[in-house]
Amino acid sequence: ATNPRGGEVKMTKIILDLDMGIDDALALAYALGSPELDLIGITATYGNVLVQDGVRNDLALLELFGRPDIPVFAGESHALAKDGFEVLPISEFIHGTNGIGDVTVPDAAACCQKQSAVDFLIDSVAKYGDDLVIVPTGAMTNIATAMRRSPEFAEHAHIVFMGGALAVPGNVSPCVEANISQDPEAADIMVRHGKDVTMVGLDVTLQTLLTYEETRKWREYGTPAGQLLADATDYYIKAYETTAPELGGCGLHDPLAVGVAIDPTLVTLLPINLKVDLEGPTRGRTIGDENRMGESTTTRVAVAVDVPRFLTEFMTRVGKVAAGL
Ligand code: BDR
Ligand code: CA
Repeated sequence: ATNPRGGEVKMTKIILDLDMGIDDALALAYALGSPELDLIGITATYGNVLVQDGVRNDLALLELFGRPDIPVFAGESHALAKDGFEVLPISEFIHGTNGIGDVTVPDAAACCQKQSAVDFLIDSVAKYGDDLVIVPTGAMTNIATAMRRSPEFAEHAHIVFMGGALAVPGNVSPCVEANISQDPEAADIMVRHGKDVTMVGLDVTLQTLLTYEETRKWREYGTPAGQLLADATDYYIKAYETTAPELGGCGLHDPLAVGVAIDPTLVTLLPINLKVDLEGPTRGRTIGDENRMGESTTTRVAVAVDVPRFLTEFMTRVGKVAAGL
């Protein structure tokens, strides 16, 4: 296959399951700037935004980044155990009311596909098997619904998700990370029923930080894509100055999951069978499953990251998209 940005290389097919906020947009740019990846579709989930606003942002950013040909599929709109969904004030504070730092991006000409996100996920795994990786970076409801409907999907899907916190505190409560908190039941289904699941959580994503120094480089390209990436990310860095001033930058959560999907050697992986707590004060916590200790492992957790190597990869790849190449 030929990547429009990379020439002749062996490419892995990828589906991004995004709740299109600011770091989701950076993950999209990272994927589009990666010669190893063939992005076959975006499935929209909720979290930073409502699912319909996620769809709008997905389409708008694909057009802005020069890839309006990539299809977008609308996903489930709320958690398995709930009837509806409202964006949390903290999500709005970090990602803006529109999910992309309140930066204006025109609506795309393209429309969302008629097929549902869940059907697209199931069909794609059936069609591409081991040549496909799915990267969820928001609420995991689409993934869990696909697993419930199709045991083949659970059996054959390769998943690298952003979410969870194993050995560090959570970011919405002392032990719960935001993406898991949106739908703990879905995340639990995913980690217990999936046969190949990699967790890229706060243990590593709060070590990979971006500052105004990097976003300035994107702005200097003078392109609409560079401008959007710089302005939206500056909004995100500013929010981090309030929520986590000790870090000195913003967490590159979702892009690191894409990075690991391409090259797992960017992180150190701990094989451990995971579960998500569903009851009591620790509801939403990702932790080892005491009932599957000693069994062969189906999940692994990133516990250390090569920060300089990832940041170099990140700036090279996102830089290509910011430059409009
Ligand atoms: C995760 O939560 C969302 O707000 C971000 O986009 C990221 O996927 C970080 O906890
Ligand atoms: Ca996200």
